[in-house]
Amino acid sequence: MSSKHSPSFWARLLTMPNDSTAKIVLVAVGVCLVCSILVSSAAILLKPIQQQNEALGRKKEILKVAGLYDPDKDIAASFQSIETRHIDIQTGDYVAPDIARQQISWVIPKEQDIAGIGERKRYFPVYLIHNGNTLNTIILPLVGKGLWSTVHGFVALAPDGNTVKAITFYDHAETPGLGGEISNPSWQAKWQGKKVIGKHGHMQLRVIKGRVVKTSHHAEYEIDGLSGATLTANGITRMIHYWLGDTGFGPFLARIRSSEHTGIKHE
Ligand SMILES: Cc1cc2nc3c(=O)[nH]c(=O)nc-3n(C[C@H](O)[C@H](O)[C@H](O)COP(=O)(O)O)c2cc1C
Repeated sequence: MSSKHSPSFWARLLTMPNDSTAKIVLVAVGVCLVCSILVSSAAILLKPIQQQNEALGRKKEILKVAGLYDPDKDIAASFQSIETRHIDIQTGDYVAPDIARQQISWVIPKEQDIAGIGERKRYFPVYLIHNGNTLNTIILPLVGKGLWSTVHGFVALAPDGNTVKAITFYDHAETPGLGGEISNPSWQAKWQGKKVIGKHGHMQLRVIKGRVVKTSHHAEYEIDGLSGATLTANGITRMIHYWLGDTGFGPFLARIRSSEHTGIKHE
């Protein structure tokens, strides 16, 4: 039935004067329809490729923070030296990948949500690098609100679970030259060797305003601020406190620190 009507519809449309309101509306609606179908199809078809690229991007950041990134080498091949495990963030226990796949998320109570992420998953990947049978580096994912955007990152800790080996922040929209300096390798290098927890067991690591006074008792926990970007820097401190504290990987790190974690030998 539509095939009988279609030719007369097109014929009628073509014979309409170009400035007729009906023709303008029909052509505009038609163009919008075709474009929206093209855009939605492209979004659906490209999604797997996009997800693959995101996963590859994350692996690249993990390799960078591990000090294993070589631009001349295949990312997947380089990543083979890193062991991916999954943990239940509440208990700090390792869980099997099939359990981690049954992901559960919950809303974070506002008073606890210092990282500004709204909700949180139960199972998280952690990345381990071994030197023979000995644990050498623990890499943990980070996420939290900067000033304008959600900032993603990874922190690499020494096997004591308390010394920062390296940190990386990526995939954010903080202002270049201001908050965007969190991606600057020379600022990230300032984190190396800093301690997370103080001698009394409290979270101490933070980005301060201004420069760290090297002779200060707190110098080993403090990172130079970013001038003109205190709000982004505060977001980074809150993200660190959330994820490396009891609300985040704290239970896992406590096990690492007390050398109780099964399956991991310490250096
Ligand atoms: C256009 C524009 C972009 C800004 N971008 C950032 C930013 O990315 N991160 C940030 O902390 N502050 C940014 N600021 C500055 C903040 O509004 C605020 O003044 C600053 O964080 C205070 O930091 P200070 O105490 O180090 O000067 C921006 C300001 C302007 C006008």
